[in-house]
Amino acid sequence: MESVMVTKVEKDEITGQSTTGHEWDGIKELNTPLPKWWVYTFYACIAFAILWFVLYPAWPGVDGYTKGILGYSQREAVMERVAEGHAAQAEYRTGIAAADLAEIRADPALLNFALAGGVAAFGDNCATCHGGGGAGNVGYPTLADDSWLWGGALEDIHATINYGIRSGHDEERYSEMPRFGADELLEPAQIDDVAEYVLSLTGQETDKAAAERGQEVFMDNCAACHGESGGGDRTQGAPALNDQIWLYGGDKETVTDVIRNARRGVMPAWEGRLSPETVKMLTIYVHALGGGE
Ligand code: HEC
Ligand code: HEC
Repeated sequence: MESVMVTKVEKDEITGQSTTGHEWDGIKELNTPLPKWWVYTFYACIAFAILWFVLYPAWPGVDGYTKGILGYSQREAVMERVAEGHAAQAEYRTGIAAADLAEIRADPALLNFALAGGVAAFGDNCATCHGGGGAGNVGYPTLADDSWLWGGALEDIHATINYGIRSGHDEERYSEMPRFGADELLEPAQIDDVAEYVLSLTGQETDKAAAERGQEVFMDNCAACHGESGGGDRTQGAPALNDQIWLYGGDKETVTDVIRNARRGVMPAWEGRLSPETVKMLTIYVHALGGGE
């Protein structure tokens, strides 16, 4: 097919518009103007772009960018907001630093702030061992119940968190259950007997004769820490053996293993790793989990 292009501007009869003068095989191109609204929007966009270019950061360079005469920067805006946030918290943080634990608990605003800060710090530092919400894991005590190794009053919890347990800190909480089997302090038969006695304290099924023999072993070797009736001793972090709450487990196998080898669980010291205010907030939070005294 042969294509001829003729340039000849003329009026189109049907629309009354001029043509551009372009014609292909008898088809003529109309020169319809753009709608007015479109043209003005287009100009407005150009004007807006120029204004933006002048006012705001716009054009990247080799080692920076055009800053714009307003000097606006999103990074600085964020920094300002963060600084404002810190300033708003400062009042509470100084409040927490200045108040003692009982005062924090008595002041609703400080208490709320401490609980919020405590839950965050707990998630970051403690939940790996103690479980979310202090629910506990085998070997890592529940912090949400009434059973305490070292004590559940504010000052007790504060000291435990600050100095740790068998942590190597100068003021650590320290005690050592002897390894009755590994260090041959008791005969295997005596260990078996005393394990039966420990089970009997929580009403579990036991060999009665063995448990009776075990009671004597218990009085001689265990009562000094765990109490004559197995109620435990907080000055030594010795758990109660006559409740249903177990740190390591209440089955015969676990109890026997603990008696043979002891466990001597370690809780790290947080003084120096967390700020004094954070330790206070954690104390308030743990105390409020349900077992606080
Ligand atoms: C590396 C694991 C670990 C981490 C992390 C840890 N703990 Fe512990 N925590 C322990 C162990 C183990 C014990 C029990 C030690 C024992 O056998 O006497 C304990 C005991 C405690 C006790 C004493 C409970 C009682 O019954 O007297 C408190 C309170 C406590 N932890 C709070 C915390 C807080 C708060 C944090 C976070 C700042 C934390 N722990 C982080 C392992 C950990
Ligand atoms: C010097 C103090 C001390 C003596 C003595 C001692 N214990 Fe313990 N016992 C502890 C401490 C402290 C713990 C828990 C802390 C740890 O080891 O992590 C514990 C834990 C236990 C547990 C684990 C409890 C649980 O909740 O899982 C059992 C069981 C136990 N002792 C039995 C005995 C028996 C039986 C004897 C005597 C043959 C004995 N203990 C003697 C201090 C002692």
